[in-house]
Parts: sequence; C-alpha cells; structure tokens
Amino acid sequence: MTEHHEKPGKRAKFRAMTEGTQEDWGIIAEHFMPFAVNGGKRILDHLRILKGDYGGFPVDRLEHSLQTATRAHKDGRDEEYVVCALLHDIGDTLGAFNHPDIAAAILKPFVSEENRWMVEKHGIFQGYYFFHHLGMDRDMRDQFRDHKYFHHTYEFCEKYDQTAFDPDYESMPLEAFEPMVMKLFQAPKNSVYSID
Ligand SMILES: [Fe+2]
Ligand SMILES: [Fe+2]
Repeated sequence: MTEHHEKPGKRAKFRAMTEGTQEDWGIIAEHFMPFAVNGGKRILDHLRILKGDYGGFPVDRLEHSLQTATRAHKDGRDEEYVVCALLHDIGDTLGAFNHPDIAAAILKPFVSEENRWMVEKHGIFQGYYFFHHLGMDRDMRDQFRDHKYFHHTYEFCEKYDQTAFDPDYESMPLEAFEPMVMKLFQAPKNSVYSID
C-alpha cells in the first residue's frame, strides 16, 4: 500500500551512525525530499484503513472522517481546518487509548497551534456528548474553560465531529480532499528539517 521511492544501489555504507560520512548523508538527503513531499499520499493510504471499521458506531470511521471534513468544508472553513477535520481520528487504528495525540503529532509541523490543539484535545471535548453514558464526567472539557482555544475546539466538536454519524448524509469522496491534503503536507511550517 505504501509507496517507497527507492533508488536501488545507492545506499549509505555505515553500519552504525558513528561511521557515517558526508557522502552517506548526501545519499540519504537525496531520498528524503521525494519521500517527504509525498507525505499526503501515505497519510491518505492510512486513512483508508478506517474503511469498514465501525466499532459499533452507525457509520464506519472513514465515513465519519469524510462527514466531519465535508461539514467543515461546506461551512466555509479553510483548507487547513478541513484537513484537520478529515484526519482528526486517523489515530484510531494505532492509539485506542489516545487517538487524538496521533493526529495532532502528524499535523503538528503543518498547521497552526490553534488547529493542532483543537485536534489534540478533541477527544476530551467530544466527551461532552457521551462520557455521561459511560459513567464518566461529561464536563471534563471544563478544565480548559479559560484556554484561548477552548471555543475553537468546542465549536469543532459541536458543529462537525459529534454531528458526523449520519448514515444518510452525502459526504464528499476522499478523492475530493486529496489535493488539499497533498498541498498541506508538502511544506512544514514548524520542523527541525528545512525543505529549502
Ligand atoms: Fe476522535
Ligand atoms: Fe471524530
């Protein structure tokens, strides 16, 4: 599923990094850019894993993701926000106990701190709509009442996330979001690696 951009025959020669040379790292650097700029494609491949994964919900996790993103897009949100909406639950397969952290980490180099925080905390804010059904405190989000991104995150859950379980809703297909995903993941805003 994942596409590797391998150039056979051109490999670094070290067996431990202590033996690494500038030439070795030149080879690795050459491989890095074509790989890195295609991050969006690998992310979309991973998102597709959510297809058919219902977990007891009325729609599968891919449909929930598409529906969240479609609702945000139709409400006039910008591309960065829509991509955050599309990917907010991408960690469901890898982080059963902390799925928002995974999406937040993937998005971190590419989005504003406001959107990153929204994705990271959406699990707690979303809890307002169901924690009480599980014997938990639905007001857990209140610990962030005075936080500058409280409203931004509350609004995401209220308008787009908690509403995105409707089997009759016509979501946009994943392909419709592909150009904005590819674009967002091409150029990090915050990373120790520069793309210049
Ligand atoms: Fe979630
Ligand atoms: Fe969600």
